[in-house]
Amino acid sequence: MNRRQLLLASAASAAGVASGSFARVPRQIAAGDAGAVPMPQPTRTLPSMLPETDPARIRLERGWRFQEGDVVAAPPANHEQTYLSVKAGNAQGAAAMAFDDSDWLEVRLPHDWAAAQPFVETANISQGYRPRGIGWYRRTLRLDPADRGKRIELQFDGIATNATIWVNGSVAAHSWSGYTGITVDLTPFARFGDAENVVAIRVDAQAMEGWWYEGAGLYRHAWLIRRAPVAIKSDGIYADPRQKDDGSWQVPVVATLFSVDRTTVSVVVETTLRNPDQKIVSHSETTVKIAPLEDADATLTLDVAAPELWSIDDPRLYTLVATVRRDGVVVDERRVAIGFRTIRFDPAQGFFLNDRHVKIKGVCLHQDHAGVGVAVPDALLRWRLERLKAMGCNAIRCSHGAPAPELLDLADRMGFVVMDENRQFNPAPDYLAQLEWLIRRDRNHPSVILWSVFNEEPMQASEAGVEMVRRMAHAVRKLDDSRPITAALNGSFFDPVTVANVVDVTGFNYYQNDYDRFHAQFPNRAMTSSEDTSAYETRGAFAGDPAKHIASSYDVENASWGDTHRATWKTIAERAFVAGGFVWTGFDYHGEPTPYAWPTIASFFGILDLCGFPKTAFDIHRAHWIDDAPVVSLAPHWSWPGREGQPITVLVMSNAEQVALRLNGRALGAQAVDRWMGNSWTVPYAPGRIEVVALRGGRIVARAAHETVGAAVALRLTPARSVMAGDGEDTQPITVDAIDARGRHVPTANLPVRFAVTGAAIIGLGNGDPNSHEPEQSAPGAGARSLFNGLAQVIVRASAGRGRIAIEARAPGLAPAQLTIDQLAVAPPPQVAVTPAQQRVAQWRRSMPFDARPSPELAPSDGDNNSWAFVASGTATPPGSGGRWRVYRSSIVPWRAVGAGGGRLRFAAVGGRAELWVDGVRVADKASAAPAPIDARIAPGAGPRRIVLLVEAEAASASGVMGPVTLSAL
Ligand code: GAL
Repeated sequence: MNRRQLLLASAASAAGVASGSFARVPRQIAAGDAGAVPMPQPTRTLPSMLPETDPARIRLERGWRFQEGDVVAAPPANHEQTYLSVKAGNAQGAAAMAFDDSDWLEVRLPHDWAAAQPFVETANISQGYRPRGIGWYRRTLRLDPADRGKRIELQFDGIATNATIWVNGSVAAHSWSGYTGITVDLTPFARFGDAENVVAIRVDAQAMEGWWYEGAGLYRHAWLIRRAPVAIKSDGIYADPRQKDDGSWQVPVVATLFSVDRTTVSVVVETTLRNPDQKIVSHSETTVKIAPLEDADATLTLDVAAPELWSIDDPRLYTLVATVRRDGVVVDERRVAIGFRTIRFDPAQGFFLNDRHVKIKGVCLHQDHAGVGVAVPDALLRWRLERLKAMGCNAIRCSHGAPAPELLDLADRMGFVVMDENRQFNPAPDYLAQLEWLIRRDRNHPSVILWSVFNEEPMQASEAGVEMVRRMAHAVRKLDDSRPITAALNGSFFDPVTVANVVDVTGFNYYQNDYDRFHAQFPNRAMTSSEDTSAYETRGAFAGDPAKHIASSYDVENASWGDTHRATWKTIAERAFVAGGFVWTGFDYHGEPTPYAWPTIASFFGILDLCGFPKTAFDIHRAHWIDDAPVVSLAPHWSWPGREGQPITVLVMSNAEQVALRLNGRALGAQAVDRWMGNSWTVPYAPGRIEVVALRGGRIVARAAHETVGAAVALRLTPARSVMAGDGEDTQPITVDAIDARGRHVPTANLPVRFAVTGAAIIGLGNGDPNSHEPEQSAPGAGARSLFNGLAQVIVRASAGRGRIAIEARAPGLAPAQLTIDQLAVAPPPQVAVTPAQQRVAQWRRSMPFDARPSPELAPSDGDNNSWAFVASGTATPPGSGGRWRVYRSSIVPWRAVGAGGGRLRFAAVGGRAELWVDGVRVADKASAAPAPIDARIAPGAGPRRIVLLVEAEAASASGVMGPVTLSAL
């Protein structure tokens, strides 16, 4: 348990709550219960945090400055400016170290600026009609002098979409995909102590890699990493357990080290393996010699005779701890969660985990959630996965690109298998590097069972397409030979030239009518549905209305290429050779608003809506996928005023043997359960209570009911948890609904609601309506969102420290709802301190020496790059043989505040007697020759401002601008 978990556990026990577990997720969803909120009841349990795995990294997520829109640098005005503009460290415009970002917005990461955009009809439909555009981020950063000599990196887990990253005025990295993370080596650029480092990032979110909402900006976690000079690389541990022929296990470990040391060094790499109870079960160590600026691999093997196996129902995880010892001192440590399991795809029988058959009951996921866009906080991501687990889902396809690393960490801990997918179908070096990055990052995860090299590529049945897949598959196998490679094909299964011939498992996107033919023709090829269904449902709506862009939730509407939820699973379930399926999609997502367009801005495909509220499809999949508990549900709700006597179709889904329906106590008949297609009745509507019971062996094993409710009289707020961690990060969705006089959920309420929150921040609002244009973001303490078919969601993020969160919801004519949540004292994850930006005069032109005092007007001619030296502030001019007088010239555009109100120009140390001139005016003198500061006021004025220092050196002493020069507002 690390410090954070310890604190969490003790805070939890102090508050009398149980500390959370990952695997146990309640199956009890009250979706079908009369009058209940269709969400789980709140728990008083804090979820387990993901353990810190790398003590050398801390979050760099506060104190970023953000500017929406591009910042175009003025072109250089003369030869000298041109000459300088292309030199290292001298990036121009918003990438320049000295750029004034004081009026940019201060933001924290993860940050998706597109989520705050309005919906605009002319913006791209696939991206959800939200303008994305270009944005800039800047962050000032101080490094401790004690970090000198270390390897220093920045790591961004995801930037949407293309980005250029400058460090201290030099381009340090380009990021060409919104799904791959990027590690930036800061080491050669780093400045220590008082000298700030400036990170500037231009993000081009006009670039698209998908036909869905991709967000914009630094939308995943960001880290500062400071490692010992000889340490394991950031993605440098490869540990993927293998079972030997005799049944025992081995963990081959490769630890890849690097060195920024100046000499060849020997270090000891030690690995220990801890079982799920944290007991050490295996140990190994080796010595590695590593040359300066080189990599070296330490290869070790850990033997484990009979480990506890990782599985979906019991995801037992071991922890591999790797340390590096130099001269007996531990200088680096890394922790990696690993799991012991075998996987196998059988052409006739499907998927086997630990030699036991498992049908893949999967969903495809995009990344966004209501309100927050793609910047999904870890706690919300976990909550989303809990919803899937509660449905009996056991598999996730990361469509169509690398997921956030936390998704895989959670999948390992919660028990999901994962089809991990590459984004760009291209074997050219830049793109192959993205695929290799994905494999290297994700190959230790027991949850990952398949690598997918592409999704639906028009070249999939071409010679070139085959050659591309061959190369990509080869690159994957070099990095991981244990997992099969797949590709998600939409057709081309039978062509003579097709990538289906070169992958290990053929992925079928749709084409469900070809499953049998494929198996008959290629009985030795393993296959799975990689994507299916594409059915449409609007949550809570039971009559499709194309004019209003509403889809029925009876599971009767689907894309022509897909099928209903029920028919699709029937097809898959009845075929052993189909390993399983991945429903398109688990949750609705912004963008791709099929089958409608504007004003619809989100998809209808989800089993759950944009907020994670279940649709009828959720109950359908519970009946299909849950085997170990009886399940029954009925749809629709039972509040249809004005439809008395009219026939209403009632759809019952169950996994029992028999279901029997009753209306107001009157039996409407029993039916043998059709588990795949469900059972239905046509019932003349009468207000009251409709109830279904599910039976096994003649015994009632489950029941569900709906009641006709009265008018909405009050609002209700239901959190997922009645406690939150006071770590400034914990986030949860709060369900808002309206209730009648008897406290029952009113499924037809569509009311405007206003929220006020204290002690926490509102970070997103939603209601699951794909046609709503209400803003999804608001001020932190107040927001508004309408109920849609009875529900809305407000997403709150806890503040730091022990406290109480108070939320109030109001709607006209209804009693308001109040909710309080206890915020427990939990240590926030360490963050890099926010450093105020400081303007500096950094660069000077220094004249040749003169015997007599030169004119302060003296300047190099434009084009003369040589007779006047380029010197940085802090560079002492050594005593020389020539004259003692020199001119130092610089030019600066003061930041806004100084430009407007004047400022203070401070030289920390000037050597020699000196005169300071600003814009031709003598503003200060220094009479003594010994190094000492000069302080001067400068008048308001936008600039550029001419700064000239005339220095008369002592014959035997160093002189000049010997320390930093700063310009501050008065
Ligand atoms: C598939 C595609 C998905 C999504 C889906 C909608 O062809 O792979 O990304 O577009 O169709 O039905």
